Amino acid sequence: MATVTPSDTGPGGVTGPAGRVSVQRLTQYSGTDLDDLCDATERAVVEGGGFGWLKPPARQVLENYWNGVLLVPERRLVVGRLDGVVAGSAQLSRTPRNNEAQALSGTVTSAFVTPWARGRGIGRHIVEEIECIARELGLLVLNLDLRDTQRAAIGLYESMGYARWGTHPQYALVDGRFVPGHYYYKRLE
Ligand SMILES: CC(C)(COP(=O)(O)OP(=O)(O)OC[C@H]1O[C@@H](n2cnc3c(N)ncnc32)[C@H](O)[C@@H]1OP(=O)(O)O)[C@@H](O)C(=O)NCCC(=O)NCCS
Repeated sequence: MATVTPSDTGPGGVTGPAGRVSVQRLTQYSGTDLDDLCDATERAVVEGGGFGWLKPPARQVLENYWNGVLLVPERRLVVGRLDGVVAGSAQLSRTPRNNEAQALSGTVTSAFVTPWARGRGIGRHIVEEIECIARELGLLVLNLDLRDTQRAAIGLYESMGYARWGTHPQYALVDGRFVPGHYYYKRLE
């Protein structure tokens, strides 16, 4: 499990007034992880922020999705925990093996923190861990894209040095209306 701040108070994370925050690279689910991840996803989708789904899918669909994430060879999963409970995650996707020209880059996808756990640094620590994995893999560039309405995420990524290089005016369709989307990249040092 990753150490998340210099003031780490013990194994498995950092304890603050709002609970113990930790991040972890997951290659399998244990205990209540899969259930907690599905709960966190459902709440995030209901709240309306990101993740692609506009309304929560059936539980079995969610479980299949999260089980599938661990099976994709080009994908890595990082979860954030609050007091041990999975409260958010993000994924790092690499380009397919045939795409040698773009093997230098990866994409951050599906970053989210469930509403009750926001504002405690979990999102930032998850993305830092994704960057750490990317560096270990030798990646030089990270890419991501976001809906214009995802203001907290825009604040998070811009504060972490991601540069906006383009805007797509018809990026997503939500409730029958086009929502613009922004494209970002970060050069990893
Ligand atoms: C974006 C998100 C992951 C941030 O998670 P979080 O755990 O609350 O974020 P953190 O507590 O780590 O905050 C990190 C930084 O994000 C930015 N941020 C967080 N919430 C913000 C808000 N409501 N408005 C503006 N900036 C915000 C700030 O720069 C903050 O740094 P600071 O605490 O030093 O001010 C979370 O709000 C979320 O899941 N949003 C909906 C889903 C989404 O938009 N996902 C991204 C698309 S892939």
